[in-house]
Amino acid sequence: MSGNMVGEGNPLMGEHLPFEERHSPSLEAYLDYYLRSVEDPERFWDEKARELVWLRYWDRVLDEDNPPFYRWFRGGVTNINLNALDRWAGTSVANRVAYYWEGEPGDTRTISYGELYREVNRFAWALRELVGVREGDTVTIYLPMIPELPVSMLAVTRLGAIHSVVFSGFSAAALADRIVDAGAKVLVTADGFYRRGRVVELKKAADEAVRIAADRGVEVEKVVVVRRAGVEVNWVEGRDHWYHELLAEAPGKAYVKPVPRKADDVLFILYTSGTTGRPKGIMHSVGGYMTYVYHVFRWNWDPRPEDVFWCAADIGWITGHTYIVYGPLMHGVAQVMYEGAPDHPDPGRIWSMVEKYGVTTFYTSPTLLRLLLRYGDRWVEKHDLSSLRLLGTVGEPINPEVWKWYYTRIGRSRAPIVDTWWQTETGAAMISPAPGIALVPLKPGSATLPLPGIVADVVTHEGRQAETGEKGLLVIKRPWPGMLMGIWGDPQRYVRTYWERFSDPEKGVWIYYPADYAVRDRDGYFWLLGRADEVMNVAGHRLGTIEVEDAVVAHPAVSEAAVVGAPHPVKGEVPVAAVVLREGYKPGPELEEDIRNTVRRLIGPIAVPAKVLFVRKLPKTRSGKIMRRILIALLRGQPIGDTSTLEDPAAVEEVRKAVEEYKRAVEGLEL
Ligand code: WTA
Repeated sequence: MSGNMVGEGNPLMGEHLPFEERHSPSLEAYLDYYLRSVEDPERFWDEKARELVWLRYWDRVLDEDNPPFYRWFRGGVTNINLNALDRWAGTSVANRVAYYWEGEPGDTRTISYGELYREVNRFAWALRELVGVREGDTVTIYLPMIPELPVSMLAVTRLGAIHSVVFSGFSAAALADRIVDAGAKVLVTADGFYRRGRVVELKKAADEAVRIAADRGVEVEKVVVVRRAGVEVNWVEGRDHWYHELLAEAPGKAYVKPVPRKADDVLFILYTSGTTGRPKGIMHSVGGYMTYVYHVFRWNWDPRPEDVFWCAADIGWITGHTYIVYGPLMHGVAQVMYEGAPDHPDPGRIWSMVEKYGVTTFYTSPTLLRLLLRYGDRWVEKHDLSSLRLLGTVGEPINPEVWKWYYTRIGRSRAPIVDTWWQTETGAAMISPAPGIALVPLKPGSATLPLPGIVADVVTHEGRQAETGEKGLLVIKRPWPGMLMGIWGDPQRYVRTYWERFSDPEKGVWIYYPADYAVRDRDGYFWLLGRADEVMNVAGHRLGTIEVEDAVVAHPAVSEAAVVGAPHPVKGEVPVAAVVLREGYKPGPELEEDIRNTVRRLIGPIAVPAKVLFVRKLPKTRSGKIMRRILIALLRGQPIGDTSTLEDPAAVEEVRKAVEEYKRAVEGLEL
């Protein structure tokens, strides 16, 4: 094999400018780098990819033969383990902490890069020899925030298999959907975990999911169970295996050679919500994702050997995949990883951990900041946060007031805020400051400028370029290595969802459509303004309105439902359902609770409507389409706009009354 086993770049060195200069704002220095990146993107990415470990270099940087099915680094061969783990074996990084893990009850574990490497090898050995996982298989991972989660992901990718991580807050039914769609034969889960002082019994949900999947024709043959909470579990002999017993069977010095994978093989699937009821399995590629994440991590966080990085997301979402597992590990960075609720046992939990571990770089969602801000500064002032040198946000627009609080109170006006706009589909940040290259002047609430290699723009609904200051739709005009490869099992949906809106295939013009509103200001800065499709953003998590509607309508009392995102002071948005009942059912608090429980059971706690509004009629068009936008306008206190297509104006009054009721109730909503 040709190519270089060891990447040529020194991963712990920043680029171009000395540290101090990278952190004194200079638009010119950044633009200089950016412009070079887009002048000849293929050359740019070719150079960038060579900083990583490959078993064979590619024949083509970008294969554009079959757009929008772009393929990066075609002909290249690698395994992401080579860059995240094997690269550190025998170096000083092997002794560095990979994870300072803390359980919610306060128990701790410290895992070095060397230990992580050994555990991944042993689990990979067990998965191959005892469980029978083979290259190309899909393994569903349904684990809480415990070290076995990154270990499992790395072990799976080491074997050349594909992981599909399902957030541990999803219900059995939601897990079953994802097992069935991925056709997974192996499930890795845990007995339980801690959340707000209580044990969540995960194995119970996993068992039920396996049963539902079997009814739908997908037989999970092996279930690996991590013992975390020490709770009793139901056991199926022959199918279920304890993680610790599997590891005990592996030879102490087990070594599993990372399986060589093609750059355009699937690295993992991660399900996300879209505009239909069915979640889509976003596929990321081995070589493109690896390359993009490696560099974006460096641009965002300017990693240094003494850093302690903390991304306070859950690995069940893309943020955790990229910024808790692959990104930081490829840079040999020490991290904090936390199991539980951010305000348990008190609202100072996060800040006490920043102090305890000397966190230098902290990355979280505006939702968490809004929550902590509301508890007051007394919880912040108790702790020494002087170790922080960079702060980040992701997942939703950050309001300027929260930005300023974060900047002055948490960062003591010394830590730049890296507001990162991106999506599950984009692999890593796309629009954000890049202090690892050169810091641009910041503006509270703006994600600033596109990262190197990213060509972003704002267009009107008709596809014309929006004027400065004119609200429009964000588009990405060139492929980038971190882009999704497609949707698992549904190539047409991939084309339809992301490319049909603004592309012109006849002219060979392909434009990626993220479905976000945006505006560009005079300096070319991007301001992201929320989703432009029927997707809500609940506490920084994507949730399809139709998905929640389907769950609400599954309740036997419900005849019709409209679900929309209502503004919420902490969570950004919360689902609110307007519901028409079937004959014979009476509205009331009990029925409301029962409907909410149905959603909890079918999707999970995050999707539970904050409020169920009982109405006799929903606003509909004459052709029978529910007019959700009327509900949204009423909830936001905005004009309801054009109602000429409305079938029955009385329906608006119905909803208006219910909304008034909701607004009175929202004061007392549980945060
Ligand atoms: C929103 C999360 C404003 C946006 C990484 C996007 C943001 C969706 C930001 C993707 C930000 C993410 N400012 N909005 N910095 N970051 N979003 O797939 O609407 O869970 O389309 O990925 O979150 O959510 P997802």
